[in-house]
Amino acid sequence: MKKSIIKSTGMFVPPNVITNHDLEKMIDTSDEWIKQRTGIEQRYWIDQEGATGSSDLGFEASKMALENAGWTAKDIDFIIFATLSPDIMFPGSGCLLQAKLGLDSTPALDIRQQCTGFLYGLATADAYIKSGLANKILLVGGEVHSSGLDKTTRGRDVTVIFGDGAGAVCIEGVETDETAGVITSSLHADGNLAEALMVELPASRLPLRVPPDASFDDPRYYPIMDGPAIFKKAVRLLPKVINESLKKARISLDDIDLIIPHQANIRINQALGQFLKLDDDKIFHNIQKYGNTTAASIPIALHEAMEQGRIGASGDIVLFAGLGAGLTWGSVIYKF
Ligand code: ACO
Repeated sequence: MKKSIIKSTGMFVPPNVITNHDLEKMIDTSDEWIKQRTGIEQRYWIDQEGATGSSDLGFEASKMALENAGWTAKDIDFIIFATLSPDIMFPGSGCLLQAKLGLDSTPALDIRQQCTGFLYGLATADAYIKSGLANKILLVGGEVHSSGLDKTTRGRDVTVIFGDGAGAVCIEGVETDETAGVITSSLHADGNLAEALMVELPASRLPLRVPPDASFDDPRYYPIMDGPAIFKKAVRLLPKVINESLKKARISLDDIDLIIPHQANIRINQALGQFLKLDDDKIFHNIQKYGNTTAASIPIALHEAMEQGRIGASGDIVLFAGLGAGLTWGSVIYKF
């Protein structure tokens, strides 16, 4: 039977490090508050004077993943791009990345599932491979948040947590009888909670009635978030979806070598560890360096965990899990 195998990973962050002390100069916040409440020490932001979009960061991460897989762009038969910060309203960043890769007919699909985007992308790639629709898939999570953040004190709860970056994986369908590759995926959404975290404008449901030059003070152009509500949902729903996946895969938590959760807040992931009664070294953290890079956070973490030798040996099992705007949440179990 065909299995969806991760052949390689790649990642990219822009060169500008923005420390919590840099943010102190911009808005009313403090290094102490950010570290205590989120675990974040720094993040990477694009040069705000440039014209860099999510597909540009995705392109850099893709080049690394392609090289590590020994593929050229022409080998790819499907592109999936997960982002909540597309380069432009439309067309999607997957199409823009495809052109940057020098391709002109490979199908490209955007996934707009925010922090859960990479998990929806992995489940989609697995379904495409198992159905025979594609066999060599480039899956990218890429985000440029910094250009769309409210850099005044009004937006400080979101502005301090978001970072820019991209992660990419090459996934190949391989015929094998061994239990390997994507073992199971569990995905969920609750659109009743859409307003807990959203950017409202520009929007098809709200015709533009204001002169364009008069509107950028409008908070609806920036992310607004009910942080405590999302936090409570995350600590309740993540253990639930993890147990759901373990049950589907007919394995136990003891069989998991590493949990790679979405990096939204270190306290969420520590609470997850406590709830599941796990040692801290079973949960991967890198939020301190990158902040929350939404759809890019899991592939960046996977790339680093493999580089550090924390996961990736034949037979290792990793569990990915995340929750984000939508609300959307899910988990995927993968065996190397
Ligand atoms: N600096 C200083 N003070 C701040 C900041 C800041 N950056 N942001 C908020 N505060 C203040 C608030 O105004 C509030 O002040 P008050 O008590 O005088 O009213 C106080 O700090 C506490 O605010 P809370 O929102 O209750 O702080 P909390 O401990 O909940 O931390 C945070 C906020 C970090 C946002 C947290 O709620 C969180 O991480 N939530 C989950 C976020 C998440 O997972 N999002 C989903 C993923 S993102 C995606 O899908 C796109």
